[in-house]
Amino acid sequence: MDIGSELYRKTLLTISGNSLVEKLTLKYGGKLAAKFIASQELQPALDVIRELNRKGIMVTLDHLGEGIKALSEASGYREEYIRLVRGIAAASVNANVSLKPTQMGLALDAKACFTNIRAVVQEAAAANNFVRIDMEDTPFTQATIDMVKQLHREGLTNVGTVIQAYLHRTRADVKDLIASGVNLRLVKGAYKEPAEVAFQKKSEVIDNFKAIIRMHLDQGIYTAIASHDDTIIRWVKEYAAANRISPEKFEFQMLYGLRMNEQAKLAADGYRVRCYVPYGKMWYPYYTRRLAEKPANLMMVLQNMFR
Ligand code: FDA
Repeated sequence: MDIGSELYRKTLLTISGNSLVEKLTLKYGGKLAAKFIASQELQPALDVIRELNRKGIMVTLDHLGEGIKALSEASGYREEYIRLVRGIAAASVNANVSLKPTQMGLALDAKACFTNIRAVVQEAAAANNFVRIDMEDTPFTQATIDMVKQLHREGLTNVGTVIQAYLHRTRADVKDLIASGVNLRLVKGAYKEPAEVAFQKKSEVIDNFKAIIRMHLDQGIYTAIASHDDTIIRWVKEYAAANRISPEKFEFQMLYGLRMNEQAKLAADGYRVRCYVPYGKMWYPYYTRRLAEKPANLMMVLQNMFR
């Protein structure tokens, strides 16, 4: 990252960790966050998916939640995810599922978390659907990878995870997960990580991002490239065209509320596109990560505020 944008990102992530800021945002910021969040409940989120599908955009549906304080909350999330998988099937929409390990209890009890996630993955398998386990910050990286590999060993291959280009360990993880047949979403990485574990320079993150994308495309392995960055999107299109890689072998992913016109344009141009649609009431951490990613996202919110 360049120094200015990295300072902005770290500052915003630090401010958002302040409990007073959190309280005020939760009290007054709900309407502004709605820009990035489909709805508070499942049914309206399914309507949003229908609308996106009509534009040729696939979806991954996320029920917001992370960093829970008691395991009983994880059971609640597990049940909501089972409802969500059934809701997708009943509505016959084109959507898979994304969830967070700490939402299922990873920070409290790894075994219970695994059991919760397995229940969701089993439900998805029965509905012929796929579960993506989002990647959180580095205390959870190895445990997340281990859970996904264990599910694959148990024959539940309808589950994949996310790999963050900013981590030093990433190329080795990609090699290992490709060998294990695990489908990956590739991202730059959204958390505040120290220099010991993560590249701090934007150019290094981009180089690593391209390297792990190539590790997939060169071997004809299906991959999901999740980025709003035109440099990356253009590079993927050009690399695929130059190497005669079919657009069927990869998908672009972007977040709901960001670059919606670009998402529709990519789909209209024949690329596979998937929109990450979050819904639910626990929107604060997700929302502040979006603001931290880009001053323009904060500006968009501020403009709406004064409208
Ligand atoms: P970045 O913020 O680096 O911006 C680079 C450039 O892209 C900008 O200078 C601008 O040109 C362009 N751009 C970006 N946003 C734009 C906008 N709104 N409008 C116009 N231009 C824009 N992270 C993680 O750690 N774990 C995870 O599981 C996931 N999951 C995930 C799923 C999906 C679908 C997405 C899209 C992202 C994630 N992420 C994630 C987040 C990811 O790691 C990363 O933080 C963000 O995608 C921001 O990086 P970008 O490459 O999108 O653009």
